Amino acid sequence: MTGSITLTMIKPYAVQNGYTGPILAKINEAGFRIIAMKYLQMTLQQAKDFYKVHEGQNFYPRLVEFMSSGPVVAAILEKKNAVQDYRKLIGATDPLKAEEGTLRKLFGASIEKNAVHGSDSDENANVEADFFFSKLERFQLMD
Ligand code: CMP
Repeated sequence: MTGSITLTMIKPYAVQNGYTGPILAKINEAGFRIIAMKYLQMTLQQAKDFYKVHEGQNFYPRLVEFMSSGPVVAAILEKKNAVQDYRKLIGATDPLKAEEGTLRKLFGASIEKNAVHGSDSDENANVEADFFFSKLERFQLMD
């Protein structure tokens, strides 16, 4: 089965608190395939570039500071309807408003420290996947 892709990051707060394993387990249980993954710390400039779409928002300076403050786990996830299904799995941006059982409800602390990022459209998923991964770093596993 091949599907569409989405890009996720496990954010610094969640990595630092030991949530990487539990979050990846939930991602697997929900039927996503990890076709690329890396552990890295973004520079401030890389975080600014990744979140360029939010430039000018009042939360942008804090967001890029936070996202470059420690390592993240970035991954490309594949599934039918990957973008929409992953957004359902992660829940609302603000963990206080996220549904029970979602990743942000379970592992998020605030709207900034909301555990994980997920792409908001197929178009952005491709842009964001290309931001972190070359073709050689992606693996299509057999059924
Ligand atoms: P993410 O899915 O990574 O995409 C953009 C991020 O900006 C979002 O998660 C939040 O962490 C952050 N964000 C969005 N809205 C706000 C806000 N109103 N205040 C602070 N941070 C925000």
